[in-house]
Amino acid sequence: MKALILVGGYGTRLRPLTLSRPKPLVEFANKPIVLHQIEALVAAGVTQVVLAVSYHAEKMEQELAQEAQRLGIQITFSLESEPLGTAGPIKLAESVLAANDEPFFVLNSDVICDFPFTQMVHFHKQHRRQGTIVVTKVEEPSKYGVVVYEEGGKIERFVEKPQEFVSNKINAGMYIFNPSVLKRIENKPMSIEKEVFPYMAEAGELFAQELDGFWMDIGQPKDFLIGMCLYLNSFKTNKNITTTKLHKGSGIVGNVLVDPSARIGRNCRIGPNVTIGPDVVIEDGVCIKRCTILRGATIHSHTWLENCIIGWKCSVGQWVRMENFSVLGEDVIVKDELYINGGMVLPHKSIANSVMDPKIIM
Ligand code: GDD
Ligand code: MG
Repeated sequence: MKALILVGGYGTRLRPLTLSRPKPLVEFANKPIVLHQIEALVAAGVTQVVLAVSYHAEKMEQELAQEAQRLGIQITFSLESEPLGTAGPIKLAESVLAANDEPFFVLNSDVICDFPFTQMVHFHKQHRRQGTIVVTKVEEPSKYGVVVYEEGGKIERFVEKPQEFVSNKINAGMYIFNPSVLKRIENKPMSIEKEVFPYMAEAGELFAQELDGFWMDIGQPKDFLIGMCLYLNSFKTNKNITTTKLHKGSGIVGNVLVDPSARIGRNCRIGPNVTIGPDVVIEDGVCIKRCTILRGATIHSHTWLENCIIGWKCSVGQWVRMENFSVLGEDVIVKDELYINGGMVLPHKSIANSVMDPKIIM
């Protein structure tokens, strides 16, 4: 089977991380976001993945070429000359996707869950209509595409980002379509949520499949960290995670993921809900809760971090206290003994003064 992943868009809500690396390559739980999806697709029998991008992505092409080889699949890029939205890219890749009459996957690139791809194929073949979308329940549906459907799954209405409450079941950003769906899409910027789904629903051609377990759109820092907590918690039950194991040992509390090349000093308290990337150095007496520390960062002794994302190769000084969804871009230096409260720091900066209230530091 084939799959198209919508990776366009600049990932502005995940800045400053996306100033150094395209969003799909930002590591979530020590693995590029898009690889979580690609590996799950491969497990469900996908052999060809098209990444739909609206910007030049040489770095991504190089890194993913290696992954394609490792996984024994084909990964190609479909480059838009102008952003084509969420439907236009499907039309652009028509020659690949409609090369035979097999159904294909389409995914948003920023969602994380226990991907139900195999079940989707079964369900799609059973109902025999044009499209299947995965739905999940959320507390705040107005940020998403809301779906109203019958018990058997037939969708009656699809409303993108409704102003008024419609339902709390939302589009989880994973679809299977028959190639015939391409007749509904034109060669121009188009939104699948606003210009395709409502009409498919009207025609009785769109079915919903409910998702079991956790789900999160991790396209912004707060949600990225919520997603990390849910993901680490799913290690006990998620059949798809076989090779990675949670970290155990003295000073480790709750669910913590540590790359084998990272070094952790003495008398630290790490966790719950922490991911530590490759080549990270954590010195003695450090306390970290609910954070992601990316590759090559150093956290000097006696520092306290909660609800932070620390970018690649950052250096956080001694006796620093950092909290409240602070995000450090690549290669940021935070001097000793500072307090950082909700600071978003652009790459390659050196911070010598405390940040008392949330702000962007350029
Ligand atoms: N190639 C390409 N070109 N991709 C694009 C473009 C574009 O012009 N615009 C957006 N995308 C990609 C984004 O990178 C993302 O992977 C996906 O399309 C969805 O765009 P978002 O900007 O993340 O949309 P959203 O999160 O507000 O809403 C979407 O996702 C929700 C679930 O997280 C919708 O599909 C909602 O209905 C859904 O509930
Ligand atoms: Mg999104």
